[in-house]
Amino acid sequence: MSDRTIKTEILIHDLKVPISVIDAGAKSLLNRRESYGPLTQKQEKVLRRIIRNTLTTQRLVNDMLELGRSREGVVNKINFSVSSLIREVLVEIFDLSDYRVSESIRKVEGYKHLLQVVDPHGVTLSFDSKTWEAVVYLDAAKVKQILRNLVTNAFKHRSSAVGISGKIEGKELKLSIKDDGKGIPPCDHKKIFETYFTTGSSIESAIKSHGLGLAGVMVLLKDMQGHLKLESDDGKGAEFKVTIPL
Ligand SMILES: Nc1ncnc2c1ncn2[C@@H]1O[C@H](COP(=O)(O)OP(=O)(O)OP(=O)(O)O)[C@@H](O)[C@H]1O
Ligand SMILES: [Mg+2]
Repeated sequence: MSDRTIKTEILIHDLKVPISVIDAGAKSLLNRRESYGPLTQKQEKVLRRIIRNTLTTQRLVNDMLELGRSREGVVNKINFSVSSLIREVLVEIFDLSDYRVSESIRKVEGYKHLLQVVDPHGVTLSFDSKTWEAVVYLDAAKVKQILRNLVTNAFKHRSSAVGISGKIEGKELKLSIKDDGKGIPPCDHKKIFETYFTTGSSIESAIKSHGLGLAGVMVLLKDMQGHLKLESDDGKGAEFKVTIPL
């Protein structure tokens, strides 16, 4: 690693502390009103927005560090279940839009009940029971980051529905993330995997889109000898199919 890369990584790493101080402060104001005093509805709304945004920032920091580790070829394999992976990714995504849904996802038991919780929010899961209960030995942080990025994109671009499916076939974990949005024209299929490419044109979407997600996904996948296939056409939604060897 070059000196400059090391310095940047340390800087990114050191952002963790001030971010968690901001997070803890906002959470104290929200959750410990008996000692911090009452809040108006407007103040509560602002605090929730602060907490959501610190969470986004924390994830960006962790993702950057994970990519740094990937570039160094660091792999941390652990045993984890497919069901916990999907559940955690959904929790992380709903944490940012509707924390009541993420609370329900955290608490609910069993595949069927989880389907019922996410269905009203346009999310369809499709896993056979063998895959759902399977325990895989992979770098969980990397797999989660890949999935979170693809699902976040699907949510961003969907018209109303997002489908997540998976199966274990032979010695491979196959995941598919599908949406019913405007799709991606074939001429952009290569470009969207390039760093900083984003089709977001308005100022607001430029703030929310960094064009880093898919480029990162490719780095992480390469690290695990996995691959990705995109099926999409103008106006027809997009399906990202990920294969990771076990
Ligand atoms: N499911 C999708 N449907 C349509 N377009 C998509 C989809 N996923 C990605 N894209 C296109 O690919 C571009 C790059 O995606 P990528 O995830 O790399 O960046 P981003 O989502 O714009 O920003 P971020 O860095 O926050 O992820 C997007 O700006 C979008 O134009
Ligand atoms: Mg993205």
